Amino acid sequence: MGVEKTKVLLPEQIKEAAELLAQGEVVAFPTETVYGLGANALNPEAVGRIFTAKGRPQDNPLILHCSGVEQVEPFTLEIPSAARLLMEHFWPGPLTLVLKKTGAVPLVVTAGLDTVAVRVPDHPVALSLLQEVNFPIAAPSANLSGRPSPTRAEHVLQDLGGRIAAVVDGGETGWGVESTVLDCTVQPFRVLRPGGVTVEELQQLVDVTWDAIQELEAPRSPGMKYEHYAPNAEVFLVTGPGAAPKILELSEPLLADGQKVGVMTWEERAELYPALTVLPMGRAGDLSSLAHKLYHLLRAADQLGLQVLFVEGVDEDHLGLAIMNRLRKAAKGRVISAGGEEEA
Ligand code: TXA
Ligand code: MG
Repeated sequence: MGVEKTKVLLPEQIKEAAELLAQGEVVAFPTETVYGLGANALNPEAVGRIFTAKGRPQDNPLILHCSGVEQVEPFTLEIPSAARLLMEHFWPGPLTLVLKKTGAVPLVVTAGLDTVAVRVPDHPVALSLLQEVNFPIAAPSANLSGRPSPTRAEHVLQDLGGRIAAVVDGGETGWGVESTVLDCTVQPFRVLRPGGVTVEELQQLVDVTWDAIQELEAPRSPGMKYEHYAPNAEVFLVTGPGAAPKILELSEPLLADGQKVGVMTWEERAELYPALTVLPMGRAGDLSSLAHKLYHLLRAADQLGLQVLFVEGVDEDHLGLAIMNRLRKAAKGRVISAGGEEEA
């Protein structure tokens, strides 16, 4: 990439980040969900650098980050009134809308699709960067392709240090899971990726569908077949009321074999696993706290050198839907039902 060293910039140095972007460099920056890896969306060469730095497949389109609805208009053919309603309600915020695109969006951004994904991030650093540059910023999550998304600048450096020009360190991101991606080119609108804005919240305003089975078998969003959120450890997602005895049973032979085994569980349940390395998910049932630390815990599993990581499943409503969606992918299909009605 020709980047000797990745600069770590402070939010006060936003002008320097903006200059780098204007010069066609890629720069990571915090959003309210996860860190993004940005480039000038109108400069195909700069956008190409995002794919190189991440090792991202070329057929996986990027989200266009804009400063407001006005900046979105020139890039979209039509905005259905129900989509406008959602913009008014949830922007700035963790909702990405897929709309018909105009010729003003370079092909490399949308991977040749006739639609474009747009969102207005709700983070002071992201917004001031967008104000400063005056062009939309194309940005995926700032991780190496396949790794958990970054929620701290140090995660970005773990994956992309030396591969990108700079990262703006704005501390930990808020939500911790990515934005909800909603396809507004079909009726009813279809959730392609559950995220920060929940399906329940969307349904209060417009008719939307989410097809979990379809998502597992044939992902509709190009990215969903690639995103694995996976640490190096082998992840097993264990669901249902019998999760703890199941995890203890499965870990026994692994421990006897000398393997390093961890478990992600609610704080209150840590004592159930005296022989395992516990990665605490927060207070029982606090889904927003879990979302906030989810990717950090998956990365911590690597830092601790865990070979196997068991994860207790959570209820799949509200933010739990996005959390379980990411955990299923991290588990690469190793989902074990322990006394519940979960599928395999
Ligand atoms: O919260 C977020 O959305 C973060 C922050 C940085 O904004 N970004 C993010 O980007 O998660 P990325 O590239 O990691 O995920 C974007 C998802 C991918 O699954 C991609 O395939 C999908 O959105 N996507 C992008 N454009 C699309 C389009 N035109 N049609 C369908 N899916 C699209
Ligand atoms: Mg991503």
